[in-house]
Amino acid sequence: MFEEAQYFAPVATRDDGTVEVELAASHPGFADPVYRLRRNAIAALAGGHVPGTPIPVAEYTGQEHEVWALVSRELAIKHRKYATTEYLDAAERLRLPGERIPQLQEVSELLEPLTGFRYLPAAGLVPLRDFYGVLADGFFHSTQYIRHHSTPLYTPEPDVIHEVIGHANALASDRYSRLYRLAGGAARRVESERALEFISKIFWFTLEFGVMTDQDELRAYGAGILSSYGEIEEFRNMDIRPLDLVAMGTTRYDITKYQDVLFRAESLEHLEDVVGEFWATCDDESIARLIADERQG
Ligand SMILES: [Fe+2]
Repeated sequence: MFEEAQYFAPVATRDDGTVEVELAASHPGFADPVYRLRRNAIAALAGGHVPGTPIPVAEYTGQEHEVWALVSRELAIKHRKYATTEYLDAAERLRLPGERIPQLQEVSELLEPLTGFRYLPAAGLVPLRDFYGVLADGFFHSTQYIRHHSTPLYTPEPDVIHEVIGHANALASDRYSRLYRLAGGAARRVESERALEFISKIFWFTLEFGVMTDQDELRAYGAGILSSYGEIEEFRNMDIRPLDLVAMGTTRYDITKYQDVLFRAESLEHLEDVVGEFWATCDDESIARLIADERQG
């Protein structure tokens, strides 16, 4: 089982066709019936979406737009200090709205002319093979809900702030979006679950939680760090290791807390040479060899 499975609240479809998002008792929105109902409605939207048609509109409250405005303002300040130049330039190209939550359809329409990427709505966890596979075609699965307003700077799950501020800004970069596509191609190419897991862990330690040397300091390009108000202040104090395919592909991680082991690329070229090249060429056999070498070494 992949760790990501615990990351998302499970979504159940009842016999009568109604959709229910099963929030854990520790979730900030657990005891808020209004929030629970909206989460169910937003999850149902994704289930009813037909690819190729416009993404259904999610109705957000004024309070939810305020959460977006607050977090997006705070993150923009931190990005100037902690995000890579490539990410900052891409965010400048994309120009997400700052005062309200953009609809995923709108995010798609901003992104597509830049790098060809389009968004697809997801109710919750998307099976890994689908999630990664469609990256090869320029599609990104995204949740539509936003975190509970009582904890604007914290979310236990990847919400629209993570998916859009973290990922869409990166997907607006020609060079990062190429890496996303290559990860998708790799996921399509392999058949074994082990190889798929290896690829997804490298994705985790790069496009989700990657850091690199940029402007002579450690900066982040991973969407998980760049969308987290708390984590972005902490990543420079973590255990920073050199970029290493086998280490990334086999290191266990705990999604429920800050990532304490991070892998540093020396530059964007370095990331492209090591990780881009790996995704462009890997297959079941080459990954099995890497894992075997690790065990002997
Ligand atoms: Fe993500």
